[in-house]
Amino acid sequence: MAGRGVLLTVLVVFVLAGLVASLPLRDVIQQVTDGVRVDGSVEQFAHALLGAEKQFESFIKEFGKVYHTVEEYEHRFKVFKSNLLRALKHQALDPTASHGVTMFSDLTEEEFATQYLGLKRPSALSTAPTAEPLPTGDLPPSFDWREKGAVGPVKNQGSCGSCWAFSTTGAVEGAHFLATGKLLSLSEQQLVDCDHQCDPEEAQACDAGCGGGLMTNAYKYVEEAGGLELESDYPYKGRDGKCQFNPNKVAAKVSNFTNIPIDEDQVAAYLIKSGPLAIGINAEFMQTYVAGVSCPIFCNKRNLDHGVLLVGYAEHGFAPARLAYKPYWIIKNSWGPMWGDKGYYKICRGHGECGLNTMVSAVAANVDV
Ligand SMILES: *[C@@H]1O[C@H](CO)[C@@H](O)[C@H](O)[C@H]1NC(C)=O
Repeated sequence: MAGRGVLLTVLVVFVLAGLVASLPLRDVIQQVTDGVRVDGSVEQFAHALLGAEKQFESFIKEFGKVYHTVEEYEHRFKVFKSNLLRALKHQALDPTASHGVTMFSDLTEEEFATQYLGLKRPSALSTAPTAEPLPTGDLPPSFDWREKGAVGPVKNQGSCGSCWAFSTTGAVEGAHFLATGKLLSLSEQQLVDCDHQCDPEEAQACDAGCGGGLMTNAYKYVEEAGGLELESDYPYKGRDGKCQFNPNKVAAKVSNFTNIPIDEDQVAAYLIKSGPLAIGINAEFMQTYVAGVSCPIFCNKRNLDHGVLLVGYAEHGFAPARLAYKPYWIIKNSWGPMWGDKGYYKICRGHGECGLNTMVSAVAANVDV
């Protein structure tokens, strides 16, 4: 019964959120101040909007935003307000996480997608060979590659759709660590500038720097080019440039890679066996994510638009008591340490949430560098 109650509340809030979001802001405020509807949810929305200017000012301060003209300020404030409503909608749909103001709160959904995502989604699910299933009988209840030293600090892709390059370097850094015990920081800019590999099954899905790419394409490129340089030798610029790869500076090599079965226990078993795994995910709830375990009620599993790195999982995520504790995955993102949970995203495990289990790959390092 309690479960149904929660669901009903959530649905009501969602419907209201949709309604409110589709109304001009002035009307919303008017309706509420006029006392036409006194309802918890509408009050909540109205409150969010009435405090919006203050929130916008502290957002500008916190994230060092600069708007050069009054028009730009006004435009960004409008976008900010609609993102406040969107965060409330996400909160209603995803009650075990916190959604609110993030560094992306002055960007429209479209701007956000072109500037901060960048996974080239193949139109059909890959038919490429998938790894053999592993035994999953005695998976540990939790596992975290960060504790074992296989994961470097969170990086920042900036406003460039190069998530796929960060997902790739993260996986290769992990594989190299597993093979050698040494954690390197590898070059994303090399991938952005030099990797134009296309998906063997889909000629249009080619790696294109800030215009997007795919991790499995990138592994293939690294294999063929001979390896990746260090971050310090080929530093990140966050924009497309001319390839300056120097084969004499290769620091890590790839020997082989494979797709992983969609079963989430298989994903866990391969995570433990092969190191951090590159995955694709639908990032819809990430623009407003602040903390907690994200477990959206609706998140399109096919709409993969972001490449990230799976580094671990844990048994119990904090959630309001009525919704119980949730096992979750730990995902390293590439939006800097200021975003989310110190740069990480926690998303619930066992439901194929946001398609996170549908584009998983593992890579192995070639150690005779
Ligand atoms: C790479 O190849 C080795 C040897 O064939 C195999 O054992 C391993 O599972 C492969 N790793 C990946 C990530 O494909």
